[in-house]
Amino acid sequence: MTALTLSTAGAATLRADALVVGVAKGAKGPVVAPGAEAVDKAFDGKLASVLETLGAVGGEGEITKLPAPSGLKAPVVIAVGLGSAPEQDQAYDAEALRRAAGTAARALAGSKKAGFALPIEAVEDAEAIAEGALLGAYAFTAYQDKGKDAKKPLAEVALLGTKPRDKAFKAAAERALALTEEINRARDLINMPPNDLTPEAFAAVATAAGKEHGIKVQVLDEKALAKGGFGGILGVGQGSQNPPRLVRLSYTHAKDAKTLALVGKGITYDSGGISLKPAGHNETMKCDMSGAAAVFAAVVAAARLGLSVNVTGWLALAENMPSGSATRPGDVLRMYSGKTVEVLNTDAEGRLVLADALTKASEENPDAIVDVATLTGAMVLALGSRTFAVMANDDAFRTSIHEIADEVGEASWPMPLPADLRKGMDSPTADIANMGERMGGGLVAGLFLKEFVGEGITWAHLDIAGPAFHEGAPYGYTPKGGTGSAVRTLVKLAERTAGGELG
Ligand code: BES
Ligand code: MN
Ligand code: ZN
Repeated sequence: MTALTLSTAGAATLRADALVVGVAKGAKGPVVAPGAEAVDKAFDGKLASVLETLGAVGGEGEITKLPAPSGLKAPVVIAVGLGSAPEQDQAYDAEALRRAAGTAARALAGSKKAGFALPIEAVEDAEAIAEGALLGAYAFTAYQDKGKDAKKPLAEVALLGTKPRDKAFKAAAERALALTEEINRARDLINMPPNDLTPEAFAAVATAAGKEHGIKVQVLDEKALAKGGFGGILGVGQGSQNPPRLVRLSYTHAKDAKTLALVGKGITYDSGGISLKPAGHNETMKCDMSGAAAVFAAVVAAARLGLSVNVTGWLALAENMPSGSATRPGDVLRMYSGKTVEVLNTDAEGRLVLADALTKASEENPDAIVDVATLTGAMVLALGSRTFAVMANDDAFRTSIHEIADEVGEASWPMPLPADLRKGMDSPTADIANMGERMGGGLVAGLFLKEFVGEGITWAHLDIAGPAFHEGAPYGYTPKGGTGSAVRTLVKLAERTAGGELG
């Protein structure tokens, strides 16, 4: 794990492998961003022109490595692009700082310590830089030969230009460290191969983390699920040799605090079941537990930060496999709520496990419920692979979540739940079918979930099928594979709920 320090040393005197400075796109060529004054001075004030000569323009994702001049204790200077320079008197956008720090941290894999001399106007900027650097310094190497010269992530991030003894800066550093460690933990779970991360194994990880962080963890195994009548979770899991689990995590602050319930889709592998996915559609389906990973990470982060809110996490864990014991298209399941569902397509399994978890979570009458799920390919078609959808039974709540996501640098977009799509799920045999019209498939799934939320409870649904798993080349602080999508939004939502700013 990468360490984070607030450095008392200046850029000139810091002993490190490299110094990171920012370069932005100016009207007349690259400009060196604030924070790098001491470094620029060591270049006789010519750092911008040196960078321009080397072809740097300051664009996002750009990295220029320079040997350090005498006058600096670090041997290398890394200039990272920040994109367009802000207007006069305007600060750099937090997400631009987060991404630049992440790009620099990735370029520094294999190094021990780097000083980050990026622009810091306010505590929030320091926090964004710390988050970006710690998220960028992530690598999933658990299954690779340690003897090979695979580069280890950057070991220490030293933030320059902060006030190490200032309470606000210290708190920001602690928050960034706890948050990014939990996001990286979620990424590890998502990247873990599905032969190892079974529902039982995921539940064991949650139990262990609960002990470590004072979170109460209860696990319902297949026997308890059968006794309780969780027909949705059991119906999805019954085709697999690895039985399902429902995990409840609860971080409690105080009885009179607000309670937020988070529900995560935890399909440890989605083969599609009897409605089997074709080759080309199943290679990344170990990521289908990303919602549960995000919920788990958010509950642990809330506990580590000691937020003044009660947060309950529900992980609906199952493996969706075809076999002689699997649910067939045409089967009818009796859900935990008592409703019957005709399963027309066993590949629409996420809504089945979530439905049971939503009903169960509703019994405790929380102030709000948010579910997170890699639910539909339709939503990836609609919004692309970097933006998650937000649906809700309350317009103001949907807007709040969209705005919170924007604030923490997560791309999201509000989506409707049009009532006319409900009739497509009418079943001649059961109360509802698990599939409806193909058009608007992401909204159809949302409408299905809505039926399992308790009367009068504020609820939102995040479909993270696009951003949960990144298949392209790494960029900014986003690695290949599991991204930890939605964790930052959930934690900020918990903080806002604690602050009494919601509901
Ligand atoms: N896990 C998939 C959705 C998914 C697709 C996640 C792409 C990540 C990337 C989900 O269980 C699924 O298979 N959904 C079906 C629903 C359909 C059968 C109604 C889909 O989207 O095709
Ligand atoms: Mn599926
Ligand atoms: Zn799925």
